[in-house]
Amino acid sequence: MATGTRGAYWSEQALPSVLKHSLLGRYIPQFGGMTGSRDGRVVYLDGYAGEGRYESGEPGSAEIAMRVASKHLSQHGLRWTCFFTERERKSFTRLQSVASIYRAQGVDARVHHGEVDGVLDEVLRTGAGLPLFLFLDPCGLGLPWSRLTQAMALRRSPNRWPPTEFLMNFSMVAVRRLGGNARSVKGVERSSERFDEVCGGRWWRDFFPAGKEPAPDADEAVAAEYARRLAAATGMLVRSVPVSKAPHHKPVYHLVFGTWRQHGLWVFGDAAARARDAWWEKLEVAEERNDPDALFSTTSLIRPDPKVVTDAAVPAIAQNLEQLLKHGRPFKLVDHTLDVFGNYYGQVTELAARAAVKRLHEDGKTPSTGVGKKIRDLVVEAPR
Ligand SMILES: C[S@@+](CC[C@H](N)C(=O)[O-])C[C@H]1O[C@@H](n2cnc3c(N)ncnc32)[C@H](O)[C@@H]1O
Repeated sequence: MATGTRGAYWSEQALPSVLKHSLLGRYIPQFGGMTGSRDGRVVYLDGYAGEGRYESGEPGSAEIAMRVASKHLSQHGLRWTCFFTERERKSFTRLQSVASIYRAQGVDARVHHGEVDGVLDEVLRTGAGLPLFLFLDPCGLGLPWSRLTQAMALRRSPNRWPPTEFLMNFSMVAVRRLGGNARSVKGVERSSERFDEVCGGRWWRDFFPAGKEPAPDADEAVAAEYARRLAAATGMLVRSVPVSKAPHHKPVYHLVFGTWRQHGLWVFGDAAARARDAWWEKLEVAEERNDPDALFSTTSLIRPDPKVVTDAAVPAIAQNLEQLLKHGRPFKLVDHTLDVFGNYYGQVTELAARAAVKRLHEDGKTPSTGVGKKIRDLVVEAPR
């Protein structure tokens, strides 16, 4: 299983990375803002950091984090301790030079040449008592199940402090390839065993039975089961976002997010919806660049209109709110993130939730007006 980047990876940002970086760049500043104010510190690990910056000048995941750290330091005095690990020497060297720019701005950017596994314990020690965010973005298979779940168990506490969250790349290309490997009589057992380690058991092989055609969505079933098991093993709220190279293509990976905080879940869903939009935007721009004389772009024809999606989501979310009111108590939106958004979680921004409260108010089903600074903190009351 290949685990390094190849060819033109670092020349410019490919479409899947647009979504990944947009999501990361929207989410982590909010993680720092929400969790860092208590101690004035946040600890961050980018375990498969790459070069930090593309040759095109666009920031990679490492530079995205360093920019956030620099801004938080200068604007709020919030100190991020950022660990970056990169196994390839060439990428590590480039990453070092990007990090030196941010170190000069006061950012605590620690770049390690080597395996993420070798640095994780130091990260956990540094993060003891402090908010910690792990970004794990391998090209192939990532951390073994036992390593990840033990790290989360170490961080788990009854009062949910300090917060810990992760965003992880779960390779669907690897699932499909290893599924084929497991089914084949010529399959390499060691490759399947390596995936057993990542998945925490052999359960995934059941989705790819020998001598039978696997279900067409066997890969998605494995991703869903992995997320379900991770939630069960860590007690975290786990959600994943599929990322593709083109519309209607199978995802190349899922971005799997884990948190113990409802606030995290709320902000992540909103960021995922906005990042999806950035993906479409980039696709449209790329198409125009490749065919500047076209009368209209194919992308513009198939891109879901965000307004149409939101228009469909608002009544559905209003209905979800009505259901929640049946419990007979007022509730804060953020305390019921998944029930509020239902199937529209990660598909629409938080604006749809405010519109749904307003809709309910107009229909006389709640005295709550939907007016208030932070949408997630809106309280919805039952009719008097
Ligand atoms: C997908 S790329 C990273 C992209 C980067 N996170 C971004 O979004 O800009 C994965 C990187 O992980 C590195 N890598 C692979 N296995 C690793 C390991 N066990 N520890 C540290 N780095 C590793 C590869 O050399 C490669 O540069």
